Amino acid sequence: MKLLVTGGAGYVGSVCAARLVETGHEVVVVDDLSTGHADAVPDGATFVEADIAEAAADLLTGGFDGVLHFAAKSLVGESMVDPSKYWAGNVLTSLRLLDAMRDNGVARLVFSSTAATYGEPEQVPILETAPTRPTNTYGATKLAIDHAITSYAKAHGLAAVSLRYFNVAGAYGAFGERHTTETHLIPIVLQVALGTRPAISIYGDDYPTADGTCVRDYIHVLDLAEAHLLALANTRAGEHQIYNLGTGTGFSNREVVQTCRDVTGHPIPAEFAPRRPGDPAVLVASATAAAEHLGWKPERPDLHTIITDAWNFTQARA
Ligand code: UFG
Repeated sequence: MKLLVTGGAGYVGSVCAARLVETGHEVVVVDDLSTGHADAVPDGATFVEADIAEAAADLLTGGFDGVLHFAAKSLVGESMVDPSKYWAGNVLTSLRLLDAMRDNGVARLVFSSTAATYGEPEQVPILETAPTRPTNTYGATKLAIDHAITSYAKAHGLAAVSLRYFNVAGAYGAFGERHTTETHLIPIVLQVALGTRPAISIYGDDYPTADGTCVRDYIHVLDLAEAHLLALANTRAGEHQIYNLGTGTGFSNREVVQTCRDVTGHPIPAEFAPRRPGDPAVLVASATAAAEHLGWKPERPDLHTIITDAWNFTQARA
């Protein structure tokens, strides 16, 4: 298929673009490089550096079969202090993209949604039928886009799949996480192992979990990419399907730090800090719907493997 990949110079977008190229698709990446890196665009993809909201209408005249929409502002903390950046950057941009798809008859969409659309869960593991009550602006904007996609599917026959990522980690060879502002646990802990940070602050040790620290469901970025390939192949005209992507297993922040010690051989000093506002105690996906309807199964659910791949990437770039 001929595919437009928005945000294909970013972490998840670049891994997915690489897999799309490897599986024989014609890939055009559009990215404004506000957080992405031009050298993360895989060989074999065409790269257009542009603002997606401005470029979508022109770009999509080119006979595309589908769009994979990764581009987004995605820092939870920033979304709470600069909401305009998120409503404009995420929602307005996505509406321009949806309109351009409709106007040019582009039939398929795979959208990067998030576990943050659910907010504090009533039940764990989280099903797709769980209430959506985001506790931060980032999640609210992603949920708004999901609602818009549902409307476009009903009104215009769009064939869409939203994938709600839990905690993405790991790397795929030269493609990995390179955020200028890093807020995610695993890359920060690996910076300690690399010697560029003195210690890791673990936010909160008084949560109602087995060891008092938050629990998250880590999914290998390559497993996530495979889910996008399956989603693309399983879109259905006029339907908006929504799937959680996680492994169904949670690891506590303490366990993550310990696994990083095991992988790197570094003592990784850790200290406890106050809770980070807005952090739910436990976020674990039920991924049974993705298994049942997409035939997706994570092949690398082991935290040691996920962190080893992230560590190899981190060291290679150091
Ligand atoms: N954490 C620390 N110290 C740090 C960084 C993180 O203790 O320096 C903790 C957090 O408090 C949290 C856990 O590590 O308990 C995981 O935090 P991340 O920032 O790595 O990931 P989140 O679970 O907050 O966020 C992820 C995605 C978001 C998405 C969210 C859904 O990265 O995009 O899940 O709730 F919105």
